[in-house]
Amino acid sequence: MSLSHLYKQTSSLLRGFKGIGILSKLRASDSVSGLSVLNWNKIPPRNSFSTGSLSHVDREGNTAETTFDFTDENYEKIENILKKYPRNYKSSAVIALLDLAQRQCGGWIPLAAMNQVAKILEMPPIRVYEVVTFYSMFYREPIGKFNVQVCCTTPCMIRGAYDILRAIESKFNLEPGGNSPDMMFHLEEVECLGACVNAPMMQVNDEYYEDLTVESAIRVLENLRDNKVVKVGPQNGRHQCVGIQGKTTLLSEPSGPYCRSLETEETKRAS
Ligand code: FES
Repeated sequence: MSLSHLYKQTSSLLRGFKGIGILSKLRASDSVSGLSVLNWNKIPPRNSFSTGSLSHVDREGNTAETTFDFTDENYEKIENILKKYPRNYKSSAVIALLDLAQRQCGGWIPLAAMNQVAKILEMPPIRVYEVVTFYSMFYREPIGKFNVQVCCTTPCMIRGAYDILRAIESKFNLEPGGNSPDMMFHLEEVECLGACVNAPMMQVNDEYYEDLTVESAIRVLENLRDNKVVKVGPQNGRHQCVGIQGKTTLLSEPSGPYCRSLETEETKRAS
């Protein structure tokens, strides 16, 4: 087997085996089971459909020694979240706590935050790492202030999603999976976000922007960057997902027969 063949096979195996990935802190100089010939730094850190490298790489502010703790305000939220689960199923709150950690850290989760979540939920840290590496909503490296997710599934694709994606790439100088040089934007190509009736659309942080054209998509992002007020939802003037010609049915009060009232004298007295 040639070296390049071995390299390709091992890289793809590591990308596919998410649970192990985060534990391996391999660098180019490391020698593990004779695989020291591989240049780990050459493994692309991201691809357009994922949230990044599956291996944890020590960086400033993100090592096993870095400390993290939730704010008092977030501890209050955690207390309320945990009330929703039986004490012996605390781990069910893992996604909610990771989301809190990610918001507190400005859009990404350092290793120390995952460890703190594991400690609070009394889970083995590996189980938290597995969740973070599995769900694409979690990021393990800093990302731009605005996380731009352009849906490119069929309805959006046939309505011009790739034109929008390419326009964003060239306008803000970034590519899917990457950040703009000023760290204002992070771009991703994603699968259906459930707003197909208003295709094409993109999600920026927690909001949807729909019925986009290349021009309106760029305008939305420029306005967000410049801290201007931006209308959420359809950008072509339609109301939510009502047809573009406006409401055409159910224009008057329904004439009946109406639903019968289930409230009787007896139920009234009981309540
Ligand atoms: S296909 Fe784009 S939101 Fe469903």
